[in-house]
Amino acid sequence: MKKYYITTPIYYANWAAHIWHAYTSLMTDIIARSKRLLWYKVKFTSWIDENWQKMMQKASEENMEIMEFLDWIAAKHLLAWEKLKISYTDYIRTSEKRHHEFVKKVILKCYENWDIYKWKYEWLYCVGCESYKKPDELTPDWLCPDHLKKPEKIVEENYFFKLSKYQKDIENLYKNTPNFVAPDFRFNEIKAFVARWLEDFSVSRKWNENDFRIKFPLDKTHVVYIWFDALFSYITALDWDADTFWPADLHIMAKDIIKFHAIFWPAMLMSAWYRIPKNLLSHGYFTVDGQKMSKTIWNVIDPIEIVEKYWRDGLIFYLFYDIIVWNDGDFNQDRFKGVYDSMLLGGWWNLVSRVSNLAAKNGVSKGKLYQEKLNKFDNKLILDIEKEFETNLTWKYQFQQYLQSWYEIVQICNKYMQDEQPWTKIKSEETKQDWIEDLEFLLYMIKQLWLLSSTFLIEWFEKLQNILWNSEISSINTEKDWWLNEWKLKEIFDMKEFNINLVPGLLYNRISED
Ligand code: MSP
Repeated sequence: MKKYYITTPIYYANWAAHIWHAYTSLMTDIIARSKRLLWYKVKFTSWIDENWQKMMQKASEENMEIMEFLDWIAAKHLLAWEKLKISYTDYIRTSEKRHHEFVKKVILKCYENWDIYKWKYEWLYCVGCESYKKPDELTPDWLCPDHLKKPEKIVEENYFFKLSKYQKDIENLYKNTPNFVAPDFRFNEIKAFVARWLEDFSVSRKWNENDFRIKFPLDKTHVVYIWFDALFSYITALDWDADTFWPADLHIMAKDIIKFHAIFWPAMLMSAWYRIPKNLLSHGYFTVDGQKMSKTIWNVIDPIEIVEKYWRDGLIFYLFYDIIVWNDGDFNQDRFKGVYDSMLLGGWWNLVSRVSNLAAKNGVSKGKLYQEKLNKFDNKLILDIEKEFETNLTWKYQFQQYLQSWYEIVQICNKYMQDEQPWTKIKSEETKQDWIEDLEFLLYMIKQLWLLSSTFLIEWFEKLQNILWNSEISSINTEKDWWLNEWKLKEIFDMKEFNINLVPGLLYNRISED
């Protein structure tokens, strides 16, 4: 069995899921769906991080008991992931008992391994980042560069994890796993950070009354502090499947938390005798209409409102066509509308509706590859995109490049239609046969494009399944594991001739009129 375990970060449960969370979850979803189509059994975990001190404050701002507040937030997140059709298979709320028990067990394991000790210290702490700051990480005015606030000076006695002990192991891990972190430039930053010096980090905080966080197993007066708690949720979420699915194949997150995943996490796993995840993918940040925002500034655009208006397909196409995964980008609402109207409706949907309308009206009942017609195209492009599905999308994570190639083929088909003018060919007996073949060929091309978009344009995917009624094509479902799909993607991709049963009632010129 080929298996694949992919995760999103567990998002802080201080408010509803926002557009940036949606971005990470949609990216994870594209890869999960692609892997399913390539016949992997996929575990995909997500959800919320609740053991955070700020939750208490947020709950009291809302005049709620803490658990009532967290349940409310969990429901909001669940709704967002439902609307966005995120195909996660398991979720974790870190307030769950199973998680508390597991974290306690792991801490004891690390302690037995001599990696946890008590220490009194003074430190600089940024509340916004929820992490300590070294002086050289601050701006020249001693501010946190992300939050532009002065970190607090704190004297405390807490338990520490001996990260420093793992310096050599971490360096060896990086040497032996050259693709551990994508993209390379982030990996280089991490390597440079590790090369300087790894400091031990604190894993507990003093327990306060009403503190609902995980009790520190070595000391009743302490609770487990953030990263130890959050990161191990990736294993808790697997429950009994941990033996099969751990180590994770891919953790996805933004640049803000790559350090914790690439440095702290492997050391913690080594200490507790777990295997190391295979790959980490760190995407950039994006602003909205040029406004810089961070997770503590809640100037939110609601992903639910967006998908209600523009469909999930519109959102996903824009995000991954326009924003380069590795870099910081901008979500520009005007550009988004433009992309949606001109490319998805004007380009893709226009092609589908023109071809299927003409075919339905004239009784065309199959799609077929005519090699000589394909030869008029740039054949290389088609062959490349097949390869790209496996490499660019699910291995190199070049979403933008993939979508660009895909859209280029859409436009080539539209141009073919324009150049060949099948509607004029029908008028003469001489060209009538050619005209039918044009339509059959275009239906074949639509099938290829449709399969290649099956992991991101999932709403249009379902629509097309209904329009071109064909049992093999209809059997594909990217939400389900491979054994539930009767046909393999490759088999349908290679199908050179296939019957269809166009359902005229399902044809619309514009999907928004539906
Ligand atoms: N709870 C921790 C993660 C623990 S993982 C074991 C956390 N939560 S968070 O709610 O702050 O979510 C951070 C993640 O949200 C980022 O890694 C990224 O996936 C997403 N984003 C938050 N702000 C973002 C942008 N401005 N742009 C893109 N994605 C960003 O950290």
